[in-house]
Amino acid sequence: MPKPPVRYGFVGAGAIAQRRHLPECAANPASVVAAIADPVKGRAAEQAQRFGGAAWRNWQTMLDEADLDAVVVATPNALHAPQTLAALRRGLHVLVEKPMATTRDQAKQMIAAAKKAQRYLMVGMNQRLMPAHVKAREVLQRGTLGRVLAFETSFKHGGPDGWSVDGAASWFFKKKLAVLGVNGDLGIHKADLMRYLLGEEFTHVGGQVTTRDKKRPDGRPIPVDDNAWLTLKTESGVVGSINISWTHYGRHEANGTTLFGEHGVMRIGEDPRFGVVIDLKNGDQECHAVGAMASNTHQVASGVIDGFTDNIQRRRPPSINGIEGYRALNVILTAVEAAKEGKTKRIPR
Ligand SMILES: NC(=O)c1ccc[n+]([C@@H]2O[C@H](COP(=O)([O-])OP(=O)(O)OC[C@H]3O[C@@H](n4cnc5c(N)ncnc54)[C@H](O)[C@@H]3O)[C@@H](O)[C@H]2O)c1
Repeated sequence: MPKPPVRYGFVGAGAIAQRRHLPECAANPASVVAAIADPVKGRAAEQAQRFGGAAWRNWQTMLDEADLDAVVVATPNALHAPQTLAALRRGLHVLVEKPMATTRDQAKQMIAAAKKAQRYLMVGMNQRLMPAHVKAREVLQRGTLGRVLAFETSFKHGGPDGWSVDGAASWFFKKKLAVLGVNGDLGIHKADLMRYLLGEEFTHVGGQVTTRDKKRPDGRPIPVDDNAWLTLKTESGVVGSINISWTHYGRHEANGTTLFGEHGVMRIGEDPRFGVVIDLKNGDQECHAVGAMASNTHQVASGVIDGFTDNIQRRRPPSINGIEGYRALNVILTAVEAAKEGKTKRIPR
């Protein structure tokens, strides 16, 4: 007997909901858009017309009144923890966008609340699900590169003012709502991706975190960082860099990673034809055509809500869970602290 579709409520009907979670939810017969809440007049109603479900201005009323199995929290960073906690306390599964929270304590509370409620908590760190990254992990686990010695990874685009439904006036450039700048937007993706690819934890991080160019609509510099150049070390001694930017004003978004292993080098996301290219010391080359990397201007199915729906229906805990979300957040929070203190810091466990 097919299982009834998972009924989702959406908290936040902005860019990520409109471009990814709502269409992917509506397209999957195993899930349904049951309700959408957004405080901006008409925004939830407009999306409900496109994707179905009832519209609300107030997310708490939606949680009180709509018949839901799960919620997607796709709101400004500072709201993730209170909204996730409220939904878990009502016995709902939660897919929360990254960064899952803005403090370590909040993230820990969210993990504990999910455990207590016996509900699933997934964090939208979708980079892991991209075909090139899935292939790269497979290659690493096969041992083709041998021991990984070092890496460099970068994620750069023109900034969230070109992405958010509210443009330069959006929460991304408001300290109280965003808390973190490019680190919370792109750094968290890369901290998670590298932990996933390397299969181990980072122990140290340092670097430069700065605001170089982004302005608010009134012309003042934004109150959060727009560039970060980080250096990291893992438990086994792999050294690497994460370079992230909101001031990449070139035509194409940059999302690439190079891993330097004892047998050769693997490049991910550089060659448009081959998402993963491995050049071995012995001269052999291995190329994998794994499809294009998704970008802000080129969305491809992320697999996030489909995966979570499958987790709920089959009662299999999500792999990108609260603990994974916490560990990525911990790296980024430590990076920001390290930059402020002007030194490399040990990442607390
Ligand atoms: N996984 C990814 O690749 C990815 C990409 C982009 C954004 N995100 C994350 O998604 C989240 C949302 O970002 P976005 O790009 O959609 O931003 P956005 O500015 O386009 O939209 C945010 C929406 O939240 C709404 N909102 C504000 N306060 C609210 C509240 N109290 N209740 C309900 N809705 C409220 C706003 O009105 C707006 O519609 C952020 O945490 C961001 O980091 C993730």
